[in-house]
Amino acid sequence: MSTVALKTVILGAPGSGKGTISARILNKFKLEYVSSGDKLRQNIQQKTSIGLEALKYISEGKLVPDDVMINFVSSELRKLPTKTWLLDGFPRTVTQARALWEKEKLDLAINLIVPHEVIISRVEGRWVHLPSGRVYNDTFNKPKVPGKDDITGEPLTKRDDDKPEVIKKRLELYETLTRPVIDFYREKKILIDFFGKTSDEISPQVLDCINKFLLDSKNN
Ligand code: AP5
Ligand code: MG
Repeated sequence: MSTVALKTVILGAPGSGKGTISARILNKFKLEYVSSGDKLRQNIQQKTSIGLEALKYISEGKLVPDDVMINFVSSELRKLPTKTWLLDGFPRTVTQARALWEKEKLDLAINLIVPHEVIISRVEGRWVHLPSGRVYNDTFNKPKVPGKDDITGEPLTKRDDDKPEVIKKRLELYETLTRPVIDFYREKKILIDFFGKTSDEISPQVLDCINKFLLDSKNN
């Protein structure tokens, strides 16, 4: 496994495969991983004050307010032992992107582009292991034992926000609030787009890109 020096974010619509591709990146490269959604769901499960606050928004497919998220994710980033990380699910608004950029200049923004009709059918089959954030699917990436996490054997659950009416709302919000974040990073010249219907198609391209990025940084 290679050690890398890299601050990166992974962007893409709900269900575009951010969690799935991130797991493949972590298999190959040694870096810290923070998924804002996974952290929020863990807080909801543990009934912390931030979890209770977030639940009101998440269950309706709305975004948690910017000030709450900026403080929450900044504090999660401060806990990391290195400045080499992959951030999934944050930033989701231009306000969040600006706040992050003021604290941390990123090296790379990975943007996953997957058609919405593909996303809706994927989300219907999604199962998650809440404590780790590991993601499975009825048709793709099935668990070895149905309903159980491959590593711990603990039960898998459905996400409350994966109901069809909620996912529709999340996709709408993505178009209005999160798409401008893509332009923000494009202007910073660190954005790379990845197209494809399947993670198997996209993930080798993402891994190659990270490899090239690291080789270039070594040579400069
Ligand atoms: P979050 O958990 O970040 O959700 P999301 O961005 O909506 O993205 P998802 O986790 O739903 O999808 P993904 O892209 O990770 O896809 P996955 O790999 O699972 O956030 C949840 C909520 O928290 C938000 O709605 C918001 O309320 C709140 N929140 C979080 N961050 C916030 C912020 N910064 N500001 C404000 N609010 C915030 O893949 C999807 C499914 O497809 C899986 O079942 C997977 O197995 C399957 N799959 C993947 N690849 C394939 C393939 N190739 N073929 C078939 N199926 C596949
Ligand atoms: Mg995810």
